[in-house]
Amino acid sequence: MNNALRVTVGHGYPVIVSADIWQNLPAALVAVGIQGRVHIVADTHLNEQAETLRIGCGDNTSVLLLPGGEASKDMHTLMQIYTHLLHQRVERRDVLVAFGGGVIGDVAGYAAATILRGIALVQMPTTLLAMVDSSVGGKTGINHALGKNMIGAFHQPRLVYADVALLKTLPQRELAAGWAEAIKHGVIRDARLFDDLEQADPRSAYFDPQLVRRAVAVKVDVVNIDVHEQAERMLLNYGHTIGHAIEHVLGYGVLLHGEAIAIGMHLEARLAVALELCDPMVVTRQQAMFARYGLPTALPNQITPEQLLEVMHRDKKVLAGQIRWALPRAIGHAEIIRDVPIAVVREVISSS
Ligand SMILES: NC(=O)c1ccc[n+]([C@@H]2O[C@H](COP(=O)([O-])OP(=O)(O)OC[C@H]3O[C@@H](n4cnc5c(N)ncnc54)[C@H](O)[C@@H]3O)[C@@H](O)[C@H]2O)c1
Ligand SMILES: [Zn+2]
Repeated sequence: MNNALRVTVGHGYPVIVSADIWQNLPAALVAVGIQGRVHIVADTHLNEQAETLRIGCGDNTSVLLLPGGEASKDMHTLMQIYTHLLHQRVERRDVLVAFGGGVIGDVAGYAAATILRGIALVQMPTTLLAMVDSSVGGKTGINHALGKNMIGAFHQPRLVYADVALLKTLPQRELAAGWAEAIKHGVIRDARLFDDLEQADPRSAYFDPQLVRRAVAVKVDVVNIDVHEQAERMLLNYGHTIGHAIEHVLGYGVLLHGEAIAIGMHLEARLAVALELCDPMVVTRQQAMFARYGLPTALPNQITPEQLLEVMHRDKKVLAGQIRWALPRAIGHAEIIRDVPIAVVREVISSS
């Protein structure tokens, strides 16, 4: 476990990001002290690897294959996982391995948090977004018809085990969406990561475990500072106040989440410039980066500024009527800003 990042929350856990390690999962489970049976809940795209792991993890290992995609983050899928585990006579000492993107990680993670009042969880992310964002930090849950991620629990995994070689089958658009979060991590906390992402060849960067690991390290750092989403953790929300509003107005699934937050970051960086918090060069460099990684920055023209403003004020990050913005002061440094006049927000969105 050399080179592992470590989340220090609770009992703590290693976050391993490397290449060509997925077949070594059984040894990695032993190394973190897991002794019970292994139940793998895998995205259907990983069916072959899941079968290899089933054989490798011992006779009694079970596999449940489920489709990825947001529609799977629901009560029905959750119930399918419970039924599978109960048929398997799951015990408290067993471990659930969530082997897929953020959707499988969230729904299977929530199943692990709640079945038998909680069993061990290992996150084995297979999308770039899940690696740099959702697999670390312990947030699990499902959607409700009345809102995304409305039902859930904090359940820290015992291990995060990410193999960038698994990204080879991921569609280009999904990869780019994952880079949006990595670029965000550079902007809010790691100027050198941002520099290196600017230099990297976007195609090979996808499979560079060092670059991915450094992007994950920002999330690990922020989680270690504050697990229950105050102060520092709110910096991760950069691009998301406007990005979530865009997703909401367009309807989920039109843009990928990473695409919506790239547009959100672009507008929020322009907001920071309008507020004289940062140099216009931040916007310029970020925009060039998004172009390089195949990410959009233009607001879809069917969206009106008023629609966005209305949705943003309903967002759960609003405190006492005030939006708390995570805004860049420079590449590598962001801050929480509370008193942003709505007129300036309207002006920035309208002139995009
Ligand atoms: N828990 C958190 O802290 C947190 C943070 C950010 C996002 N999220 C959640 O993550 C979810 C999005 O995650 P995502 O973007 O990974 O979506 P996803 O899990 O739906 O994966 C995207 C697509 O890629 C497919 N796929 C996965 N791995 C693959 C592989 N190796 N090869 C080929 N195809 C593969 C999936 O089947 C799916 O079609 C959202 O529900 C979001 O709310 C959670
Ligand atoms: Zn995000």
